[in-house]
Amino acid sequence: MTKPKHHIFVCASFRLSGTPQGACAKGGAGQLLQYLEEEINDRGLGDLSISSTSCLRVCDRGPAVVVYPENWWFGRIDSEEAMDAVLESIASGSPKEEYLLT
Ligand code: FES
Repeated sequence: MTKPKHHIFVCASFRLSGTPQGACAKGGAGQLLQYLEEEINDRGLGDLSISSTSCLRVCDRGPAVVVYPENWWFGRIDSEEAMDAVLESIASGSPKEEYLLT
């Protein structure tokens, strides 16, 4: 079994009760998840894995993305440019401060 080097979790605002209604879904997380998948394929980043999650409890700063094993929490990932910043953080080994949640 090959394990990914990095795992990206994208909040998709899933709720046990049904339809996603949270801040991250409303902020475009679903479309950005698709963009992220395409970018990983286009860039040949086979050592990255993606999962969508339920609410990560940082709704007021969403859409939220978390990268492991670094334990980087990013907020306001609401555009392709912002998602590119997440990928660039992983590539450089240094998180983009403007999106980092502390
Ligand atoms: S809905 Fe994404 S952090 Fe709450």
